[in-house]
Amino acid sequence: MHILLASALPWDIPDDLFTPWASKLTRIHTGADGLVEQVEQLQPNLVFLGDLPQHDAITAILDIRAHAPHIIVIPYIASPAPDFLLQLMRIGINDVLTDTSAEAIGEVIERVSIDPTKAAAPGAKTVRRHGFIAAKGGAGATLLLANFGVALAKAGNARVLLVDLSLPFGDLDIYLTAQPIAHDLADLVEEVDRLDQGLFKAMVHHLNDRVDVIPCPQTFERVIRVTAPNVARLMDQVAPYYDYVLFDLGSSIDPVKLGIIETLDQLAIVATLDVPSARRTSQMFTLLQHLDFSPGKTSLVINRQTSRTSISIPEMEKAVGKKVSQTLPETASGVADALAQGAPLIETQPHSPFAHEIDDWVASILRTPRKGKSLWQRLRSK
Ligand SMILES: Nc1ncnc2c1ncn2[C@@H]1O[C@H](COP(=O)(O)OP(=O)(O)O)[C@@H](O)[C@H]1O
Ligand SMILES: [Mg+2]
Repeated sequence: MHILLASALPWDIPDDLFTPWASKLTRIHTGADGLVEQVEQLQPNLVFLGDLPQHDAITAILDIRAHAPHIIVIPYIASPAPDFLLQLMRIGINDVLTDTSAEAIGEVIERVSIDPTKAAAPGAKTVRRHGFIAAKGGAGATLLLANFGVALAKAGNARVLLVDLSLPFGDLDIYLTAQPIAHDLADLVEEVDRLDQGLFKAMVHHLNDRVDVIPCPQTFERVIRVTAPNVARLMDQVAPYYDYVLFDLGSSIDPVKLGIIETLDQLAIVATLDVPSARRTSQMFTLLQHLDFSPGKTSLVINRQTSRTSISIPEMEKAVGKKVSQTLPETASGVADALAQGAPLIETQPHSPFAHEIDDWVASILRTPRKGKSLWQRLRSK
């Protein structure tokens, strides 16, 4: 493959980082002006854009897209600001190089080199991906995901993978099991290059015969090994083993999660009935709208409902502009009991109102047909 490194000033990045992939490596030094002419003339397969300022990088990408749509462009941005990432997402750039290590460069090249038409072979089994995000920390996204996942596997006789992406320091495992878990997300993403089905099944935690769990790393050194490209690769690799993959997205949207959010079939926003939560929920929906995430794929789930909530469901719906699709009751003693027993609440109290609501929710998902294109597919076709 012919790789072009384009930067305004000489880019001190060694050639040998690209040699495993590049049959030809060219460097040019130019600002946004004149870049597209040189790219057109050189006809590389892949362009890495070096140190261009934000506005110039966007202009250069759009220019190259207009004149040579078959050329893949990857911008290098050491610490991308969220608004820049959003802009890139909106123009269909889903791969950004954020450090110039051999590993990061290799990952990004391998990812963009995958032929998407082959990845989506007709008749290939399609996994459904659901995300759970708390409008505000403590809303109960993790508790609901744990119980929903276990109930879904049972009711749908489905193979389900639960992934704790609530970085850093997610706690999904404590709502499922009291057993220590040997391998976390950092271990799995590090093995992604040699991860066949056998190794993956040996490393992933088996909660029962239908449900597997990948917990969040618990130390900061381990958390930073989890990156957007390696999580995406891991998820693509293991998708064929499951019917559903559920992601705990914590209570914020960041670059690692953006790559997963665009692949979701459904995203449940979990909120409680109070003013701070209504405000955060409304902000979350607005952000998703900016990302062109289809409103049809989002649902608003109310947790911890009691007779004494500070705002009502209609007030919440009005504030957010979205109908509530599911409500789960406050079950304080039930939750404490389940945590003490190290088992999901729906198993420790299978006849509780909480368990009934989870069953209803699962039934509604099992009835819903899969439809729609991913965020990237829609962004790319614009
Ligand atoms: N329906 C509920 N009834 C009682 N306690 C709940 C309920 N949902 C969540 N909790 C409690 O609230 C706290 C936060 O829940 P968690 O799922 O970890 O929130 P999040 O993941 O949204 O930050 C936990 O202590 C949990 O046990
Ligand atoms: Mg959580």
